[in-house]
Amino acid sequence: MRAVRKVLIPAAGFGTRSLPASKAVPKEMLPLVDKPLIQVAVEEAIAAGFDQIGIIIAPWKTAIRDHFGPSPELEAFLARKGRTDLLESLRRIRSLAAITFLEQREQLGLGHAVSMGEGFAAGEPVAVMNPDTVYDGRKPCLGQLKAAFEATGETTVVLGRIGREETRKYGVARVEAAGGGLFRILDVVEKPGPESAPSDLGVLGRYVFTSAVFDAIRETRPGYGGEIQITDAIRILLGREPVRGVLFEGRRFDAGTPEGYIDAFAAFAAKRLRGGGEGEGTTRS
Ligand code: G1P
Repeated sequence: MRAVRKVLIPAAGFGTRSLPASKAVPKEMLPLVDKPLIQVAVEEAIAAGFDQIGIIIAPWKTAIRDHFGPSPELEAFLARKGRTDLLESLRRIRSLAAITFLEQREQLGLGHAVSMGEGFAAGEPVAVMNPDTVYDGRKPCLGQLKAAFEATGETTVVLGRIGREETRKYGVARVEAAGGGLFRILDVVEKPGPESAPSDLGVLGRYVFTSAVFDAIRETRPGYGGEIQITDAIRILLGREPVRGVLFEGRRFDAGTPEGYIDAFAAFAAKRLRGGGEGEGTTRS
């Protein structure tokens, strides 16, 4: 078994789809009820058993760094007031995982952002999670992926059914069923039109890569939108090693768009009002 302990969370983009809300507040800091999206992602990673988390930020996204850092004045205030519950909730995250901040100084695409984590990965396999793709299921999405990777040692990505009209929003895979909810990825295309999309299976924001991904990114030329796409790096990887896909069972929200954010907020708010209750529902498409 090849264990994967490290996860990268790219959070360095401009968040143009969430403007104007994301102008001064990074989109990853927009709240899902009482927690910012970045914390929801970090908690999913911790629940999945990752203990080394690398958050890739742009230099101006100091709010993300601040969110996970100590805040002596606030903590002293809460201690004085006897609010140990709040104090503990602020400190808990820091105690559960080591969070490292990595900078992407030029916004050259998701693949380029991931490449900023090469030193952090230090030759080990590494997971990647897009914090604006929010999953809600009985088990953490990243945990399902981690288990699949550790069983095979092969690069594994999360697949989900998307509508024909949604292919322009995602990486789309051509696959071969491999049994037990697993697929072998034969090809991936970034944001194809519906007429050229190879299937209705999107590659949706969760990945576990072997360390070969970094060489593949280095060789990746700008693609869709003139950016260095992780999808194109996966395409290079496909020529070198097998890549697997797993279908996630649970709900997914694309919180990087206003519509998806509203859906995610409403779902998490309803859950909160019911007092928890994870895991109902089916894959959203
Ligand atoms: C990125 C990836 C895309 C993937 C999507 C999932 O796109 O490039 O392949 O399907 O995340 O959330 P973005 O949403 O950054 O445009």
